[in-house]
Amino acid sequence: MVVPKIVRIGVLTSGGDGPGLNPCIRAVTRTAISKGLEVMGIKRGYTGLINGEFVPFDARSVGGILGKGGTILGTTRLPEFDGLRYQRQAIRVLNQHSVDGLVVIGGNGSLNGVLALHKLGYPAIGVPGTIDNDVGGTDIAVGVDTALNTVLDAIDKIKDTASSHQRAFLIEVMGRDCGYLALMSGIAGGAEMILIPEVATPLAAVAEALTNAYMRGKTHGIVVVAEGYRPGTQAVLQYLEERKEELGFHMRVTVLGHVQRGGAPSAYDRILGTRLGAAAVTGLLEGKSGHVVGLLGGQVAYTPLEEAVARLRPIDERLYSLAHIMEV
Ligand code: F6P
Repeated sequence: MVVPKIVRIGVLTSGGDGPGLNPCIRAVTRTAISKGLEVMGIKRGYTGLINGEFVPFDARSVGGILGKGGTILGTTRLPEFDGLRYQRQAIRVLNQHSVDGLVVIGGNGSLNGVLALHKLGYPAIGVPGTIDNDVGGTDIAVGVDTALNTVLDAIDKIKDTASSHQRAFLIEVMGRDCGYLALMSGIAGGAEMILIPEVATPLAAVAEALTNAYMRGKTHGIVVVAEGYRPGTQAVLQYLEERKEELGFHMRVTVLGHVQRGGAPSAYDRILGTRLGAAAVTGLLEGKSGHVVGLLGGQVAYTPLEEAVARLRPIDERLYSLAHIMEV
């Protein structure tokens, strides 16, 4: 295998932001500098790449950002990057700026972009950065741990008020088509029920779980609903409202929304972002273009993107069963 010579690399964040992107940008930059490379920060994801929004980065450019939420580079969603015209334009702009390799931090859509560039012969590597934890090739993506703690904090607080008023709450959490955040926060927060897209749960089962919880003397009922669960939070609410006499609890809904994406990264996300960012640079230099760098079984691992983005990361069925046992 001939590894192309890399003198200058670019780094960008793309898609939905999340905590831990800044530590990762910092690690990419400082690792590259330690290896004698030059670094270009690319603003606003693939949009900024196509428009040539490049900023030279030195070690100081990424100082003081470890604890900052969001991404200092900015980010965008650019679905059009699926198209060959945009991909070729990106490579043209990278060549114009003498950037020989690219590190992209983002979720599934963004990593598909990395794969496309790699297939066109351009050296590119991905780091999974998404609160959804739906990317293959890693046990956990950058941002998940902090988001999980944000959700947990909300569940704990909602439980206080739910118990005081003897209410049941539907708490909707993000995750797109993946139930990871809902499942893990439901386990950590002691939910009475967890609704995720991966498991078809009939509405009658939700009503039954809440009625049982009421009859067993619980003062609250917490149902964590993944945003991807169908038929959706509003349908669950309507179903339960229609049966409020049998239910015991009065219902309320909290949609946590984008609060889950913000905030200072946890220690775990700072360390994960740092490890994966550093490994992305060494991977690029070692010819791992077209791979995603993740953490598998606690160790840094490179997985071909073709494999990693082929399907959504499945949930762990043993954890789902465990959650069910804990619901009583
Ligand atoms: O992919 C991250 C995510 O926060 C998903 O959980 C959610 O469905 C989506 O992004 C929201 O996207 P936007 O910020 O564009 O509204």
